[in-house]
Amino acid sequence: MKRQRACIIGGTGFVGRHLLTRLGNAGYHCVVPTRRAFRHRDLKLYPQVELHELEDATSYAALFADCSLVVNLAGILNESGGASFQAVHVDLVREIVAAAQAAGVPRLLHMSALHADAAQGNSAYLRSKGAGEDVVHGADLQVTSFRPSVIFGRGDSFFNRFRSLLEMAPGVVPLACPQAQFAPVWVEDVVDAMVRSIDDERTVGQRYDLCGPRVLTLQALMTYTARRLGKRVWIIGLDDKRSQLMARVFDKLPGAPLTLDNYLSMQTPSVCNEHNGLLQLGIHPTDIDTIVPTYLGA
Ligand SMILES: NC(=O)c1ccc[n+]([C@@H]2O[C@H](COP(=O)([O-])OP(=O)(O)OC[C@H]3O[C@@H](n4cnc5c(N)ncnc54)[C@H](OP(=O)(O)O)[C@@H]3O)[C@@H](O)[C@H]2O)c1
Repeated sequence: MKRQRACIIGGTGFVGRHLLTRLGNAGYHCVVPTRRAFRHRDLKLYPQVELHELEDATSYAALFADCSLVVNLAGILNESGGASFQAVHVDLVREIVAAAQAAGVPRLLHMSALHADAAQGNSAYLRSKGAGEDVVHGADLQVTSFRPSVIFGRGDSFFNRFRSLLEMAPGVVPLACPQAQFAPVWVEDVVDAMVRSIDDERTVGQRYDLCGPRVLTLQALMTYTARRLGKRVWIIGLDDKRSQLMARVFDKLPGAPLTLDNYLSMQTPSVCNEHNGLLQLGIHPTDIDTIVPTYLGA
């Protein structure tokens, strides 16, 4: 039987790599556009993956030819190097939608973020993610979108970032927004939700909030990471005024380890207020303690 083709935009990233494996197992041949093919040469070894370097003249419609599925995972957490939230989360989404319609692709899965809201979002990140979500749901396509809290798993930028920070720490770590709340969701549960949705007509038009089973503060998550690494550090939670000051200062540093916009995003608890889409899709959410020790070490 001929394998179905899917195009995964953002397929080179953390979530994308987990999704490529799942889609391969589900019988898909995956077309993966990237701006920097040399950085992702390892993906050429995946038999189900066809890596395409994006050039100015690259047309998404041409990439989507013969695809029965398009997945959009492209996203940025911070604006840098000319990449704005508007460009990646809204304009690119419009381009993808137009190309999918031109190529006659029937199905689109779109990755948004928990509490993304074009009008009410606390930060530019959340407002732009909300605007992108509205673009896909306003299009004449069979769309399902996914709104996860922070995603963890092998290769994540969450626990692995805490690890780097703790490894450099001299024994004391000042932490901005210590009371910010998260419901970390396992990447394999996220990609499971996406794969289950593909052929399930009931998911068309739905926006699924995705959360893990436990709500934890940022301070609790950092403390958990330190404990897993066997690192004795003093984590000092900063009050709101100092958190905001730290964000303003760090925003100006190379690589901006924390931005004012990140600070604003964290003012909204990243927890599922109503339904957890994982449960709606028949997935039992996996706890951090089942998975994190497998990649952060004992
Ligand atoms: N990770 C989380 O905790 C989390 C939580 C909530 C929502 N999300 C959303 O989930 C999606 C995937 O996240 P992730 O953690 O896998 O991100 P990631 O590892 O940073 O990967 C992002 C991907 O987006 C692509 N991309 C970035 N800018 C692009 C542009 N201008 N044009 C085309 N492609 C572009 C990158 O492709 P190349 O560099 O190869 O071109 C990369 O593959 C994102 O939309 C993110 O906002 C993630």
